[in-house]
This record gives sequence, C-alpha cells and structure tokens, in this order.
Amino acid sequence: MLLERYLESAGSEAIHEALRLDGPRPAMVRPTQDPQFGDFQVNGAMPLAKELKKPPRELAQPIAEILASLDAIEKAEVAGPGFINLHLAPSWIASQLTETLRDPARDGVPAVEEASKIIVDFSSPNIAKQMHVGHLRSTIIGDAIARILAFMGHQVIRDNHLGDWGTQFGLLIVGMREWGSEEALRSDPIAELERVYKLASERAAKDERLAESARAELAKLQAGDEDNRKLWEHFIEVSRRVLDEVYEELDVSFDVWLGESAYHDALPGVVEELLSRGIARQDEGAVCVFWDEIADAPKSLRKQKTPFIVQKKDSAFLYSTTDIATVLYRRDHFQADRALYVVDSRQALHFQQLFAVMKLLGVEMQLEHVGFGTVLGPDGKPLRTRDASGHVITLVSLLEESKQRARQRIDEGIAEGRLRVRPEEMDEVSRIVGIGAVKYADLRQNRLSDYQFDWDKMISFQGNAGPYLQYAYARCVSIFAKGGVDMEATAREATISLDAPAELVLGKHLLRFADAVYQAGATSQPHIICEHVYELARAFNGFYAECPVLDAEGGARDSRLGLTALTARQIRRGLGLVGIGVVDRM
Ligand code: ARG
Repeated sequence: MLLERYLESAGSEAIHEALRLDGPRPAMVRPTQDPQFGDFQVNGAMPLAKELKKPPRELAQPIAEILASLDAIEKAEVAGPGFINLHLAPSWIASQLTETLRDPARDGVPAVEEASKIIVDFSSPNIAKQMHVGHLRSTIIGDAIARILAFMGHQVIRDNHLGDWGTQFGLLIVGMREWGSEEALRSDPIAELERVYKLASERAAKDERLAESARAELAKLQAGDEDNRKLWEHFIEVSRRVLDEVYEELDVSFDVWLGESAYHDALPGVVEELLSRGIARQDEGAVCVFWDEIADAPKSLRKQKTPFIVQKKDSAFLYSTTDIATVLYRRDHFQADRALYVVDSRQALHFQQLFAVMKLLGVEMQLEHVGFGTVLGPDGKPLRTRDASGHVITLVSLLEESKQRARQRIDEGIAEGRLRVRPEEMDEVSRIVGIGAVKYADLRQNRLSDYQFDWDKMISFQGNAGPYLQYAYARCVSIFAKGGVDMEATAREATISLDAPAELVLGKHLLRFADAVYQAGATSQPHIICEHVYELARAFNGFYAECPVLDAEGGARDSRLGLTALTARQIRRGLGLVGIGVVDRM
C-alpha cells in the first residue's frame, strides 16, 4: 500500500470534514524527523489560518480528532504552531503487512492508475570505442529505472541509442584498409577498431590527403556505397558481439537498438524544418539555433552565447541533429509520453538545448535528462580507464575482476565459518555477488554525485554494500530452511502481530516499501530503493537480535516467520528492481 498517499487523502478528508471548506485542501503529510513525536506529521492546518482567521492550533484540533478515530491512527496530537503528529496503530500496520504477505506477485506495490509509455534511452555507447567504466553508470542506472517503471505498470521501451554513425567511420574505413588486421578484428574487435581509429586520426591530423580521403569515404558510406556499407556493418557486428557479452553479464536487455545511424535519412528534413520555422538560421554556411535571438527561448538559455549547431559548414549533421530526429521518431512511431535520457551530467547543456528546440517545434512529449556524476578513482580524480601500463580497463575485465574478488571474499568467509557455499554453486554465487556489488556501489549513491570506486568497500559483507544485503536475504531464507518451514505456506497462513518494540520498528519499515518504489520511480532515483533495502536489513538485524523466531511459540512464531518472509521478499524484490540478484544459500 502507498502509505503516504493514503495518509494524505485521509488527512485531506479530515480537513474537509472538520472545517467544512468549499473544497479539498492538501493535508501536507510528511514523515516526522524524530520518531519520538510519531510517524507522520500533518501540516495542512497551518496555511488555512489566514483564510479562516483563526489560530492554527484551534483549526488543527478537530482535524486531529477525526484522524485519531481512524483504524490506522493510534494517536493524533496537535503540536508546535499547529501541525498534527500522527502515531500509526501497530494493529493496523500488522493487518496491512498480513495483507502484503498474501501478495507475492506485487509485494504490496499497487500498479499505477494511468500507465504511460516511457522510452528509457540508456547505455548508448559509441561503436569502435571501448565501453569503459564511465558507460557502466548509464547502463546500470538506466536498467534500474526501466525495471522500476515497468514494475509500477508503465509501458517501458528500452532503447540503446548507439553512437554508430559519424565522422569516426570515415577514418575507420580508410584506416582498416591501410592498417587493419582482419584477424585482430575477429579476436578482439573493439581493441582493433580503437587501435586503427587512433592511428588514422593521428595521421589525418598531419596528413591532409588522408583526412580528405576519410571525409570522402564517410560521404560515400552515407550516400549508400555498397563496399563501405558492408565494412561499416562489419564494424557494428563485431562491436555488438562484445557489447552483448557485457549486457549479458550485467543482465541488461533492450527492446530496441536504434542507433544514430537509424535516423540518418531524417536529418535533412530536420534542418529544413528548423530553418523554415525560423528556429535555426544560416551562419557562415552552418545552420545554428542562436538562443539570444529567440524570443521564447527558456530564460536559462537566453544568455547562452554559443549556438546549438545542427549542420556544419561542410554540411555534416551532428549529434544534435540526430537527437532532434530521434525525439520526433519516438513521438510519431512509438507515441511515447515521456523519454528519459540516462546520460552523464556533463551533457546537461546539450539536453537543455535539445529539449528547448523540441518545445519550439511544438513537441509535447515529456523529456528528461537523467544525469549522473563521475566515477572517481582512489586518488579522487575521474577513474582512469587505462592501467599503469596504458592498457584500457575494459568493462569486461572490470566485471571479471569483481567476480574474482567476490570469490576471494567468499572463500575468506567460508574459512572463517561465516559463510557456507556449496562447491558446485561457487561460480554462480561469486557471479551474483561480484556483479551485484559493482551495481550496488553505483546505485546506492544519489546518481548526481560523483563516487569513488573502492573494491574493498564494494565487495563487503558488512556495511552498506551489495554482498551484505544479499547475505541478509540468504540469512532470512536460512531461517526457514533450518526450521523446516515452507516460506510460501507462511505467506499464505501467518498472521502478523507487532508486539515487541523491535517488531514494530521492522513492521513500520516494511510498510514503507511501496512508497520507496514510487518515489524512486517518480524521481528516477534508484538509490531510494537501495536505502530502503539497507535500512530494512538493519531493522531485521535488530529484530532478530531481540526476538527469537524459530524458538518462539504459537502465534508469535508464525508472526515472526511472517515478518522474516516479508523481509526476505522485500530485499529480493528491492534488489531485483535495481537489477541485482540474490542467492538462497550462502
Ligand atoms: N553515445 C553518446 C555518448 O556516449 C550517448 C548517447 C545518449 N543518448 C542520446 N540520445 N543522446 O556520449
């Protein structure tokens, strides 16, 4: 159940009933800062004081009385200048949790009343360049957001907007013909493409003839020349293989792969449209949007001196042109209501300008840049994607390392008697723990902040880390195994009651799961779910230390098993919603 939404509507009804106003007013329900004063606070009486010319505390009193009469509320007290502190009733929380226990399909998270069609544009690496740790964030965060929105009931289209078009291909075509090795391209495609590209671009910088021929090859490719087209397709194909490997390891998938190349034919029309609508104009042969010349440009862009270029002097189209065509396609072909761009915050200006252009073109789709910060190395500087000897740290090798390190940690845990993993399950467990650790380290942060890549903190069975949560899950499951109790049967039959203080703390936390999911979805902030799961694991620890489960008797035992089952399910669901797996035994 959506707790805050329920309290908000109950509060707003109470205000209406108590004060007999002409219409509904917001109750302005917020969680309290200090649990000593209750669970939630209703602030809605205070702003009415002026309108009704009465002291807010006097207005709050009858509202509090109505609220106190609800099953959900144990106590409602007027406090301070005129807000109302709400204490939830343990019996009501318990009955809500019993209901959730019976709902394994949704774990108490309702589906949205109105589903939207949402494009999530994420990962989107550039072909012929290594997908490095920087791309990891878009992939992990975008996947989590797509999972959350889909679970909420939205129709999500996951689109990998590959950088598979543009000037690098002219250089690559010339370079491959000159220096390429077909064998290297087969064994380590991206490294070979990168090597050739680097060589070609260095040479082209000094050698105008080479630069000219790269431009000519690009033009031929874009005009549909068969040989160049074949070569390009080959580059894409070999790169795709590497990407697929990474995505498989990460358990990330896409509904469509509409790279930049997919929009090529639409680009001249985009520029024409911008010109004819007076949004862009010619400038020394290029076509640009000058923000200081557009009366209804957003304020933040009015002062923007450098224009948004949509066609260069040499008539080449740009990233910006493609992105405009992409929005139009998403509107016309998919009839999408929203598009989320999960892209590095350093591209903020690009998206600001793109969205402003779309608005000028009359596009009503909701466009959002879901930005994120930088991954930092141990020295606090942006994580270098090359090691000391200049080798690129690829995503594949990074994920490989995380699995190895996870295995080491698990071995240590086994040696110390903390963990138990069957030898035949070791590979699978290390994979889930290792990959989960990398993902969690990223997702637990507010995406806008930079974060430091730290293997030791990341792969840890203590503290706020993926393995700790996976362990907490396995421990819940092990309680059932140890007692020979079937978790599903508990879910069908147990009735939860909240008597001990630690039970109540856990119960209150469990009750807030749906709110966390919705908040994460509404703000594109998967860390809200991570935080919930982490706090849940801690609340469970507190409960488990205070309250015997298997050794309890009768109804208390059933109830505690029920709480344990709910905890397990919520950890699994919460981690699952951000793309992290669990194992039942470890
Ligand atoms: N390929 C781009 C990059 O690596 C990201 C593309 C993001 N999506 C978009 N529609 N612009 O920087």
